[in-house]
Amino acid sequence: MRFTLQPVKGKEFVDRIGLLEEMVSELADKRSTVGYALYGKRRVGKTSILKEVERQLKMKDEIIVVYFSVWDLVEFSLLEFCQRLSMRIIDAYRPHTGLKYRATDLLKTPASVLRKILDRAEFKVVYNEIEFLLSTKQQTDNDMLIEHVFDLSEKLAKSTDTKCILLVDEFPSIIDLKSDGARIGEPILRKIRTISEDWERTSLCISGSIKSTMELTVLSSTSPFYRQLIVKEVKPLEKEYVGEILLRNLKISDEGIEEIYSFSGGIPFYVQFIGKILERVKEITLDSIKDVENEFLTEEGNILFKEEFNSLSSKERLIVANIAGGHYSPKELANTIGDKVSNINRFLMYLIEKGYVEKEDRGYYVLEDPVFERWLKVFILPSFQS
Ligand SMILES: Nc1ncnc2c1ncn2[C@@H]1O[C@H](COP(=O)(O)OP(=O)(O)O)[C@@H](O)[C@H]1O
Ligand SMILES: [Mg+2]
Repeated sequence: MRFTLQPVKGKEFVDRIGLLEEMVSELADKRSTVGYALYGKRRVGKTSILKEVERQLKMKDEIIVVYFSVWDLVEFSLLEFCQRLSMRIIDAYRPHTGLKYRATDLLKTPASVLRKILDRAEFKVVYNEIEFLLSTKQQTDNDMLIEHVFDLSEKLAKSTDTKCILLVDEFPSIIDLKSDGARIGEPILRKIRTISEDWERTSLCISGSIKSTMELTVLSSTSPFYRQLIVKEVKPLEKEYVGEILLRNLKISDEGIEEIYSFSGGIPFYVQFIGKILERVKEITLDSIKDVENEFLTEEGNILFKEEFNSLSSKERLIVANIAGGHYSPKELANTIGDKVSNINRFLMYLIEKGYVEKEDRGYYVLEDPVFERWLKVFILPSFQS
């Protein structure tokens, strides 16, 4: 097992045992339509959890699992979302429906032939949905598209006596999908919610990393999926599990593990990345680990963080840099930056919504990602101070 920057599952997956047990047993229960909403910072391991849940559920009879990431869309349109998701559902059901063709082939099939192909018991029930989804080119009613996709899973599940689990990664981003050139926005969430209330054979699990959109979707009491999905925060790994990842491939002391744990804040992506660089190091000492961490910050940090940092407004940049410089209260920040406290508070709110800053206590703000913080301190702060 090597270090990897891809989502992990199976033997590569560490920790989260309790969460996985709960999710898998609830989702595998054919009488339940309870779903889950996972939220947590980027790179903390949400996709990996969905993939591991998928792996475990696939071993169960009568459970059909479909994983889909909104961030994998190319055109980022609602039509593309609905077509691709429905094709995944059709493909996932192939073992039960005996359909010989992959869904992408169906897309190219003329309507007359399509009807013949789908002229089997299991598919008759969803013929209308499939025809609608695959033959639509554009300019279709948004609600109709969504209804057809989710009817597809529900009807297929009923006709094959199975349960369908939809795992939709980065779900809140569907509000940004385009239809007729415009962003579709929040109403789509309410639509999906309304449809899902009638489900008897489908469960929805979602994940999201952007605080403000996740808030809109599930976290606040006025959001559509509040009370409908069980919300779970995915937190960084504890030191023990950081050690487990590292010790599989490296000879490394407790002190070394401690160092990487504190550098990474337990975010598995950084642990894997540092581990990957350390594989090239002959003798792993505390000093060589620190060298590798610095090498990571210089080479990878500039790729990972620079663009993100530049996407912030100039005031937001000043604030994050100064938090990295050790100014945690709005008052202190206002003093160093030379601005009004009320202004600072407003920009801190924006930064919280974007997922960069966390309010740890009253009047005490910290950066969410310790590695980003370190990068700011080393590469950005000096240029603001000079
Ligand atoms: N449970 C885990 N065990 C080991 N490595 C993990 C685990 N979860 C995540 N990782 C590693 O962390 C990185 C980010 O994981 P990912 O699931 O893509 O996070 P997210 O979806 O929250 O951004 C990947 O490189 C993956 O290898
Ligand atoms: Mg992810």
